[in-house]
Amino acid sequence: MTQAHKKLFIKTWGCQMNVYDSNRMSDILFSLGYKTVDSPEDVDMIILNTCHIREKATDKVFSELGRLRVHKEAREEKGNRMIIAVAGCVAQAEGNFIMERAPFVDMVFGPQTYHELPEMVLKASGNKGKRIINTEFPTISKFDHLPDEHTIEGASAYLSIQEGCDRFCTFCVVPYTRGAEYSRISQEVIDEAHRLVEQGALEIILLGQNVNAYHGIGPDGSTWRLADLIRKISEIDGLKRIRYSTSHPRDMDDDLIAAHGEVKKLMPFLHLPVQSGSDKILKAMNRKHNVDLYKEIIAKLRKSRPEIAFSSDFIIGFPGETEQDFKDTMQLARDVEYASCYSFKYSARPGTPAANLQAALVPDHIASKRLSTFQNLINKQQAQFNKSCEGKILPILFDRKGKKEGQLSGRSPYFQSVYVKGNERLIGNIIDVKITQSFDNSLTGDIVIYDNEAA
Ligand code: SAH
Ligand code: SF4
Ligand code: F3S
Repeated sequence: MTQAHKKLFIKTWGCQMNVYDSNRMSDILFSLGYKTVDSPEDVDMIILNTCHIREKATDKVFSELGRLRVHKEAREEKGNRMIIAVAGCVAQAEGNFIMERAPFVDMVFGPQTYHELPEMVLKASGNKGKRIINTEFPTISKFDHLPDEHTIEGASAYLSIQEGCDRFCTFCVVPYTRGAEYSRISQEVIDEAHRLVEQGALEIILLGQNVNAYHGIGPDGSTWRLADLIRKISEIDGLKRIRYSTSHPRDMDDDLIAAHGEVKKLMPFLHLPVQSGSDKILKAMNRKHNVDLYKEIIAKLRKSRPEIAFSSDFIIGFPGETEQDFKDTMQLARDVEYASCYSFKYSARPGTPAANLQAALVPDHIASKRLSTFQNLINKQQAQFNKSCEGKILPILFDRKGKKEGQLSGRSPYFQSVYVKGNERLIGNIIDVKITQSFDNSLTGDIVIYDNEAA
């Protein structure tokens, strides 16, 4: 008997790990007859995969739930059930609150419970479906119980290798929402990488909340670090590009730095968040690195891979940040010269140690002013870096159509967005492009036509 397909809609916020998790949830539910669709209307199940990293996260979830409630009521008036589920980091942090405040939510479950989805969905299904809340950190690993992936990730695919974090930066919710650091067994990762390449991936982005803390059991029984894994995966024929995200400077060991020089498939671009350029603030953040150590790592990486470019995350207006601390942050950004950066105004997250530093809070108008000064500098650096690419021929991985008709969109080795005119059949390929013009956030150019006869 063939089962009629049920419709599933997933909305994802947050980091790349959440995107990966949404794909895995869709894989699991596929085996229960659910097919993922791209609109929430008249579907059997909706999952909101949420992020708790900065302020208003919970508000956003509630306003989305308010909108979805209408879809649920419309459908249920016709006698059909719609399960509304909240997953991800807000579910983990605020699960009970969501259950109380939104009685039409049927399921709330945290990131470590996705392998239990079939059981949870069965309980919540049917007209007498139960409400489910599951924010446990189970002792068995969800990775051992997820099915093989069938959600085609395209030319550039995410692969989660590590999850959770033991670093406890004082501003951050991740150690609480994702739990203790956990590394997958290397062989599992290697097998998954092979499957992704067989499905057409040219690029694999290894993911973890603190990915370079990776320490999985290797095929030989010894502990493998990230560099070991990268070297092994780089041997896969057909795989052209490897990236990893996000790293902590403290976990950037010499072997990994050396791998940046040796493994050409490892792209010459690294997101290495520093958060602040003031040693005093770094200490208050419990970052376990100072400015000098960070600069030393950057210098070593540049020595290992001269063309490497960097991006970072910065938090502006952390409690206790003085004008001088802020100047030090500006100086660090000038010294490093980033290709791009994310910067955020500090927001106190409930339950984190920094949330107790109320007395030292930077007034909001000062934090906003500093943030915009900082972003001006970073925008200039990004525009300058993009400008330095003009006239170069860069291999571009085309992974989707551009917004305009006849346009393709892809990524340079430095992760810049590149738009060119080109035939759709080039999607899923790496093609040389001569960069003709740069913008603040992207590049454009022409596909290089190699004329063999003329050569
Ligand atoms: N694992 C990553 C961070 C993930 S969170 C790392 O170690 O760098 C992504 C970014 O959000 C952080 O780098 C930080 O810059 C920002 N962020 C985290 N908590 C924040 C907070 N309470 N207020 C403002 N920004 C925050
Ligand atoms: Fe959060 Fe990253 Fe610090 Fe871990 S290392 S606590 S994920 S900011
Ligand atoms: Fe957000 Fe959770 Fe990722 S809080 S950034 S979705 S780990």
